[in-house]
Amino acid sequence: MTDILRVIQERRSVRLSFDPSRPVKSDDLKRIIEAARWAPTPHNMQNFEIIVVDDRKLLRKIGSIKSPVSESFVRENYRQLSVSKKELLQRRVGILGTYFPPAWRDPARFDEVLGKERNSSLNDAIDGSTAVLVVVYDPRKRAPASEGDFLGILGLGCVMENMWLTAQALKIGFQIMSVFSGEKVEEKVKRVLAVPKHLRIAYAARLGYPVHPSNRYLRVRRDVEDMTHYNGYGNKGIPVSEKP
Ligand SMILES: Cc1cc2nc3c(=O)[nH]c(=O)nc-3n(C[C@H](O)[C@H](O)[C@H](O)COP(=O)(O)O)c2cc1C
Repeated sequence: MTDILRVIQERRSVRLSFDPSRPVKSDDLKRIIEAARWAPTPHNMQNFEIIVVDDRKLLRKIGSIKSPVSESFVRENYRQLSVSKKELLQRRVGILGTYFPPAWRDPARFDEVLGKERNSSLNDAIDGSTAVLVVVYDPRKRAPASEGDFLGILGLGCVMENMWLTAQALKIGFQIMSVFSGEKVEEKVKRVLAVPKHLRIAYAARLGYPVHPSNRYLRVRRDVEDMTHYNGYGNKGIPVSEKP
């Protein structure tokens, strides 16, 4: 029990450059895929497929795809940012804004961000990774009676977590790249990987070993008392068992 909780707590988003000379072993990739295979999905639909990309030429091709940042991303991202560690420790949700260039944290400078980022490419996201997993699904299918296939999409999240925890257990860096499913980017990635038209990209993940592994960052979570309700909404917290 302690072991699984430890892996869950140690799992993190590794937003660091990966070492291109240290590829992820194919046996480890297979373990990560095996974890995805056993993920729970509604009605056991297994509504996903995974494209494993470790061919350097293909990665370069994907890396050259332009990824302009959308205005809505900049504006909504800003709301999740704390300006200091102190603020993040108080808020307990969101992420530290200092990971982004100063203009991303200042609404008065958003025009500058939107102009400059037009030049960015997926290479910035892949950042040295030698393996990328692209998770695709068929939006024409849905979990029974699930409006907007809400349940099916939840299943894709279970796939994500299974792969992420396995990567963590193998001490492999892992980062989700939502940008792969973004407007203007998705179609181009699909073309490079010959993904059939009817499939959508849910997300991609990059894997690797950080060049500077010691670069840890502040991660916060709400307290149990703040996120739980006991026997009805509003009665905050859960009873803590008495120590013997
Ligand atoms: C559906 C989903 C999409 C995410 N997209 C991104 C992303 O595009 N880039 C990124 O760096 N992290 C992404 N994340 C990671 C979250 O930002 C991260 O899990 C959260 O900030 C908590 O940090 P931790 O993973 O280090 O615990 C995503 C996570 C989920 C569940």
